Amino acid sequence: MARAYIVPEKAVDTSIKKIFDVEKIRKDFPILSTEVYGKPLVYLDNAATTQKPQCLLDTIEQYYKGINSNIHRGVHFLSEKATTNYEESRVKIRDFLNAKSTNEIIFVRGTTEAINLVASSYGNKNIKEGDEIILSMLEHHSNIVPWQLLCERTGAKIKVIPINNKGELIIEEYEKLITDRTRFVSVVHISNSLGTINPVKKIVRIAHERNIPVLLDGAQAAPHIKIDIQDIGCDFYAISGHKVFGPTGVGVLYGKENLLDSMPPYQGGGDMIETVTFEKTTYAELPHKFEAGTPNIAGAIAFGSVLNYVNKIGFDNILKHENDLMEYANEILDSIDDLRIIGTAKEKSSVISFLLGDIHPYDTGTILDRLGIAVRTGIHCTQPVMDRFGIPGTVRASFAFYNTKYDIDMLVRGIKKVIDMFS
Ligand code: ALA
Repeated sequence: MARAYIVPEKAVDTSIKKIFDVEKIRKDFPILSTEVYGKPLVYLDNAATTQKPQCLLDTIEQYYKGINSNIHRGVHFLSEKATTNYEESRVKIRDFLNAKSTNEIIFVRGTTEAINLVASSYGNKNIKEGDEIILSMLEHHSNIVPWQLLCERTGAKIKVIPINNKGELIIEEYEKLITDRTRFVSVVHISNSLGTINPVKKIVRIAHERNIPVLLDGAQAAPHIKIDIQDIGCDFYAISGHKVFGPTGVGVLYGKENLLDSMPPYQGGGDMIETVTFEKTTYAELPHKFEAGTPNIAGAIAFGSVLNYVNKIGFDNILKHENDLMEYANEILDSIDDLRIIGTAKEKSSVISFLLGDIHPYDTGTILDRLGIAVRTGIHCTQPVMDRFGIPGTVRASFAFYNTKYDIDMLVRGIKKVIDMFS
């Protein structure tokens, strides 16, 4: 049975220093000073996963060297300590998202599991044959397939908010899609393949006017902008640790407490129960009801510690630096003949997807790789976006706060080399 834990008031470090020194920050990330193929690494694949600061590596090492134990289960010293650190991390995440309560913070494997949890638990209970679920054209496969599986189980239908040629959602069409059978809206906050920032407050408001709950996929937003769940007002929000400079295999589902309370467990097992007999099981209180089995304890603790690090850098600094990088990159890339940027939304964050003439994205990516430049090529788990633009995929450069104008200069030099090789 999950043990009661007294939640501290505030666990986030508030001694935030507002000085932003990118060269100093880069030294916190050991991998950024490594070489590939004998060339300095230029890492521009941050939308796939971000690099890890030394403080995260230290937390993981300290956990396994000095704390490792199972949580919520032992009376012994190490188990108490691991439990305290794990639950303190939940407090840090509550504060990071500005959620009301730690009961609303469920540790999961990542955004994908968070969405599957909601589609299964909320969906199985509340969505029936003939009901409608609204997604958008910008969704990652992880915000499409769980809903398709739900539709196969229930006979519900998916409707899709279209995008314009800039890669922005057409909000008037969204309003038209809503009917008296609409039961759920699930939309990405920031597109991983185009960088479009969606007007999520508006999307939530429109749905809530008709009492329709909204899930936001925040995987790509959390590393770049301050998330204020209460201000956004959504019902569910999903993030992945590894996209916010944290470990892989851990993420968070935020859910409004009354909704999570009304939902059945997603998985059964240890830690999520109150009592078990062969006749009947009763379940633990939130948040433990949704955390069956031994979780990624080290990962959850390290995720909390890295959020302190991100908070110290400050989202005002992050936003300004990344906007400067985007402006610089856009200006230079725009001036290259034969380079076509896919996704030119007015509100955009930290992603530039592009094509070079009729050169296949994989060829561009392979040549850039040999120059030490890591970009992602392909459909970026968003095949409907590529189909919408009638393209096989893109080359995607994606930035984080540790990138510099030098990285962009290297990318541009690489792009010119690709063009030369194919001309
Ligand atoms: N969703 C990740 C990406 O955009 C993997 O690359």
